[in-house]
This record gives sequence, structure tokens and C-alpha cells, in this order.
Amino acid sequence: MENCRRSVIGLFLVLFYLHEALGRIAFEKLTDFDYRGNTYYTVKNLSLYECQGWCREEPDCQAAAFSFVLNPLIPVQETVCQLQNETSSNNPSAAPQRSVNMYYMTKLQLRSDNICLRPWAFERVPNKMIRGLDNALIYTSTKEACLAACLNEHRFTCRSAEYNYVTLQCQLSDTDRRAGQFVQFVDAQGVDYFENLCLKGNQACKGNRVFQAPRVGVAEDKVAQYAGLHYYTDKELQVNSESACKLACEIENEFLCRSFLYRGPPTGSQYNCQLFHLDHKTLPDGPSAYLNADRPLIDSGERIGSYLKILVKNRQLCHLTTPYLWYSRQQKTQI
Ligand SMILES: *[C@@H]1O[C@H](CO)[C@@H](O)[C@H](O)[C@H]1NC(C)=O
Ligand SMILES: *[C@@H]1O[C@H](CO)[C@@H](O)[C@H](O)[C@H]1NC(C)=O
Repeated sequence: MENCRRSVIGLFLVLFYLHEALGRIAFEKLTDFDYRGNTYYTVKNLSLYECQGWCREEPDCQAAAFSFVLNPLIPVQETVCQLQNETSSNNPSAAPQRSVNMYYMTKLQLRSDNICLRPWAFERVPNKMIRGLDNALIYTSTKEACLAACLNEHRFTCRSAEYNYVTLQCQLSDTDRRAGQFVQFVDAQGVDYFENLCLKGNQACKGNRVFQAPRVGVAEDKVAQYAGLHYYTDKELQVNSESACKLACEIENEFLCRSFLYRGPPTGSQYNCQLFHLDHKTLPDGPSAYLNADRPLIDSGERIGSYLKILVKNRQLCHLTTPYLWYSRQQKTQI
């Protein structure tokens, strides 16, 4: 009896330490990239959130590759969700591959109680970093420990983290790549950039949160067309005005809403407000991606015309941008 009790306590302790050692499940997401992996299950027409949820629930699932194409005849986004039981995304020497309309989500174990209920906690950009602007420099033996440190940071709002797989440096910052034109987002071999996507809407920007049509030297209708085709629609609703659509984006809490598309006054039961977690800063090519937006959708010129009219006329795409601010480089603190 005594032995039995002891072994039960022992088992409990083992489970407890296992839990502590493994941490909690979270996901990192890449946009328009994927990694080599072994797909064991493919399913069509799931939403992004269903796809990610399936991977979360399946112990074998290590990563989910979600892609979509717009069927302009309906028009709906037709999606493919691939669950993978092996992925090279956790191998720092594996190279990511460019992939169109692809969100690649890798399962992580993070030792943090601050993981949000959203589908993914971080957006990962391989081989990139912000030059300077770090609030803290620590050394961690794994990327996961670096990400947990960002979520656990309480002295400042950790908006981004950078992990160097070679030097094991983990740099935390209250700045992200959106914080204004003085932020230099540069190539850095062997370093990954991670954006904290557990932030609440009102923490998302270091300055005031302002939505404006992106000033990127590309006509607004091109941007709207590109978004209509290549941004996954996280949420659709019917609203009476552009300001109502903007408000919906501002107060969205299930994901961090970065941009919205208002498609003009409501007609019938059609949705005229789309919310996106994506914006031009999230695209690997940045705003130049919009210039490639005029690929023909379907062969019938007639339909393209009417499609564009629906999408473009009287519409504005607004982006979350932060006001123009310059932050002095803060002292690095060593922990
Ligand atoms: C992944 O699934 C395949 C079957 O599709 C199986 O052969 C392989 O052993 C699995 N790999 C792991 C790491 O479980
Ligand atoms: C996916 O959805 C589209 C549009 O609703 C439909 O045409 C297609 O048959 C669906 N595919 C599957 C496999 O359910």
C-alpha cells in the first residue's frame, strides 16, 4: 500500500516535471513560406483556424501548411490544409521555401503562462532582424526559451524577439517592423525575427493606432485587388459604414487585426467588410507584391472587369500603421 502511494506520488512528480519541461503548446506562423515536411493528412475547405486547431489537437502533428486560392466565379477562397508529422522548420540550417498564399504554422512548446488563446503566438520571419532598438539581450539555449522570455517580459511590452541560433543571443524589443520608417528591417543569416501576436489591439502599436491607406507608391485599387486575392479573410461581416468596419478591426480580439477592406455600402446580404491579420508589412516582398496583382484571374475578360469593379470601386483599404516616431536606442540590459 505504502509502495503504491509512493509510486503514485512519484508518477505525479514525473508528470509534473514533464509538464514543466515541455511547457504549453503554441504556434509560430510564417507567411508565404513553408518548410519541407512529411504530410500525413490533407483536408480541403477548412478555415485557417480549423486547420490550426486540428494540428493542435493531434499529438502527431508538428506543423500545418495552410494554403488557399480564390475561386473568382463564386468567389470564395478554396483552402488546403496539410498536417505534417515531421518538419524541418525546427532545424536552423534548413532553408524555408517561398510559397504563394501559404501560412505555415509550426507547433512549439513554450514555458510561459502568457500564451494567448489565439491560433498562433508569433509570426516568424526567417533570416531577418531589426537593426538595433533592443530593450534586452539575454542568452537562451533554445529559440523556445527566447520566445517564452518575450511573452513573460513585464518591464516593457515585448513586441518582437530575435534569436541567433549560432551565438544563442535572444534580443527582445518593444519595437516591431511597423514602428516607422526609421526601423531598418535587414537580412541576417542565422537570425530569425519573431513578432508577438498575443498583444491586445491597443498594445499592437508603440504609438497611436492609426489606420490609413498604405502610402507605398502603389495605387489603392491595386492594393485592394491584391488583398482581395491574396489575403486570407479572417472574418467577414456586414456593416453600414467604413467606420463600422474599422471599429470591427480595432476591437477584434480573436486575432490581431492588421487591416480591413470596406467594399462599399451594404447590398442584400453580402458581406462588405473583411478583416485580415495580414498587412503589407507581413508580406515577404513588402509593398512590391501589390505590383504583381494584375495577373488575369480567369480567361473571360468580361468577368474580370465586373469582378474588379465589385472589388475596387468606392473602396478603401486601410492599413494599420504607426505614426512617424523616432525612438532613441535603448540601453541593452544584460540579465
Ligand atoms: C509520419 O507518418 C508516416 C506515414 O505517413 C510514417 O511512416 C512516419 O513514420 C511518421 N513519422 C513520425 C516521426 O512519426
Ligand atoms: C470546397 O468549397 C467549394 C466552394 O464552396 C466547393 O465548390 C468545393 O466542392 C468544396 N470542396 C470540397 C472538397 O468540399
